[in-house]
Amino acid sequence: MPHHPTDFLLMPTEPRRYLVTSALPYANGPQHVGHLTGAYLPADVYVRWLRICGKDVKFVCGSDEYGAAITLQAKKEGIAPREIVDKYHAILRDCFEQIGISFDIYHRTSSNLHTTTAQAFFKTLYEKGVFVEKTSEQYYDTEYEQFLADRYIIGTCPKCSFEQAYGDQCERCGTSLSPSDLIAPHSLLSGAPPELRSTKHWYLPMGRYQAAVSEWLAQAQTHEVWKDWVVQQCGSWFEQGLADRAMTRDLSWGVPVPLPDADGKVLYVWLDAPIGYISATKALAERDGFDWRDYWQQTDTKLVHFIGKDNVVFHCVIFPMLLQAHNNFVLPTNVPANQFMNLEGEKMSTSRNYAVWLPDFLRDFPDKQDVLRYVLIANMPENKDSSFSWLDFQTRNNSELVAIFGNFVHRVTSLLHKYYNGILPNVDWDILQHRAIRDRVSAIGAGLRRELAQYIEQYRFRDALSALIDAAREGNRFLQEHEPWKMIKTDPDATAAVLVAAHELTLYLAHYCQPFLPFTAQKMTDMLRISPAKRERIASGEWATRAGHEIGATQLLFGKIEYADIQPQVDRLAAIRQQRESALQYAAAKPTTDKAKSTRPNNSLPAHPDSGLETLPELPEIGTDHAPIKPEINYDDFARLDLRTATIVAAERVPKADKLLRLTLELGFEQRTVVSGIAQHYSPESIIGQRVLVLANLAPRKMRGIDSNGMILMAEENGKLVFVAPTDAIGDGRTVS
Ligand code: 2FM
Ligand code: ZN
Repeated sequence: MPHHPTDFLLMPTEPRRYLVTSALPYANGPQHVGHLTGAYLPADVYVRWLRICGKDVKFVCGSDEYGAAITLQAKKEGIAPREIVDKYHAILRDCFEQIGISFDIYHRTSSNLHTTTAQAFFKTLYEKGVFVEKTSEQYYDTEYEQFLADRYIIGTCPKCSFEQAYGDQCERCGTSLSPSDLIAPHSLLSGAPPELRSTKHWYLPMGRYQAAVSEWLAQAQTHEVWKDWVVQQCGSWFEQGLADRAMTRDLSWGVPVPLPDADGKVLYVWLDAPIGYISATKALAERDGFDWRDYWQQTDTKLVHFIGKDNVVFHCVIFPMLLQAHNNFVLPTNVPANQFMNLEGEKMSTSRNYAVWLPDFLRDFPDKQDVLRYVLIANMPENKDSSFSWLDFQTRNNSELVAIFGNFVHRVTSLLHKYYNGILPNVDWDILQHRAIRDRVSAIGAGLRRELAQYIEQYRFRDALSALIDAAREGNRFLQEHEPWKMIKTDPDATAAVLVAAHELTLYLAHYCQPFLPFTAQKMTDMLRISPAKRERIASGEWATRAGHEIGATQLLFGKIEYADIQPQVDRLAAIRQQRESALQYAAAKPTTDKAKSTRPNNSLPAHPDSGLETLPELPEIGTDHAPIKPEINYDDFARLDLRTATIVAAERVPKADKLLRLTLELGFEQRTVVSGIAQHYSPESIIGQRVLVLANLAPRKMRGIDSNGMILMAEENGKLVFVAPTDAIGDGRTVS
């Protein structure tokens, strides 16, 4: 057990065991691809690598079930926090499993084990005199009879004037705030301005521990290279100087503060959440029968936290500080955080539904888990923000997974079936030419193993993935150079050497793709019939192929993705972007005299912290020399209209109705019937091919016995109805916003 704050320095270069954590996601919604690539996929690749290297490793995670993120979502959905966490915990757990994140345990912070673990941790710190007890004035919502912690309060940022800054941080300029910094604060619960009331809390006097934690951070970097930007972020926190931070909150949903005079108080979620790593390890230890303390209290453990960039301060400063103060735990060896991933070049947004959600992906692409993993690893935001795009998803699948990796494996297995009925032929490796062929493939395998070790152990997962695909590329080159399909006619012995060697290379790929493409690895294991003994030979760098081994039927590892497969996704996101663009254009056109209106407190719930700027501007005013402007609506009212471009492809009069035409509209993805009152303005023949705008989500209505599905938009010009037509540059079925 460590007895001195610097005992962690004794960690040997070769750790005895590994404990790997991924940030506990809030159980307040599903995950999107940005989350996945931030804290889960890199950890999974790392852990799967350690496992195939035979290391002792535990991989823990779980749902973060307390904090304002949960209670505000509960308010939004109109259900209790317990129901929220039960619902999203199940969704998160299942999605992680389906996408192949191989946690040893996926725990939850609302469990009893976590409560007792977090309370004991707090109590120890309390008894050691780590906290400072302070009574201060805090904002209180009189209607809801509750103090307003952190994200329950919003107001104007004193730095950048953003009107929806939270009580703990401004999401626009990133400034860390306390509720008293906000200008014109108001409660997110009632919307009313809060009043100040005094309340007692336990604070971590971070300034007191700053020197020790910064010394640890400096020392940690002498053992492993840390990402520059992570270190810099911590440096800027240290430079600003660390203020006291309350470790308790006045809330009803959380881990109760285990002190006699703390009714109605719970642990600060950022105190209890990282302790969730410890309780998850304990639960795993109970389940699997080992001693959890080996992983948390033995200095030859290597602890690695995988997180997104918004969690850096908590994992590199606050939690290490708490662990040091406790003086009974190892500290992380590294925190290889990732930056954020954008989507088609724009920030993802929960409230605008601008994201690729995992449950949706798994529903729409049920057999493409590895393709997503591949594309996300290839674009992992390791040192700067990156972007996911559907076109890249399609292109990387077709030109890398199908054309390079899948193609190589397919060529090899097909040729083995064609020439040898799938039974590996005997090769005399003593013949010089054959030996050279074998050495070439062994070198590719050894190079791959070396590069993966180097890159993965430095948390460079993009480079590691490139090394894998490069090895498959080498395989294709190897086949191309030897052309076994020609050689078979002239030199059957050398052909056998080439194909057996190529088979050996497929074994390397099957083995070393495991961290990245676990589902493909399993398919290859089945297809090539890789036994555990053979796997051991591959892992130890021995030649693993044996003459006489029979492989299974050839299977395609990856299927081609057509544009039509991704088009609905592309269109959905484009429509959301376009909506925002229109909103911004309206904002730019908006007269400045409206300013007073826009400073009204906004009582709506804020978006999830990762959602960016969400205030949508109102519509501009237009002059009143035409028809009077109708009563004001808000942007959401407008956004509910689904306006589409379409073409009239058929038209006929409706019997016994002078004014009505029955129109058939082409929307690109469907045809529909609309009955329109334009018969006195247009003959049916004259409007075939006419482009129109249609309100496509108008409730269907029966007119003269015909179901009318929508309404076309017309303007009146000198008493005549005129079509409001899109230009021909716009295809059918496009959304208009
Ligand atoms: O930012 C988040 O989503 C937090 N729930 C992460 C917690 S990480 C750890 F401390 F548990
Ligand atoms: Zn700001």
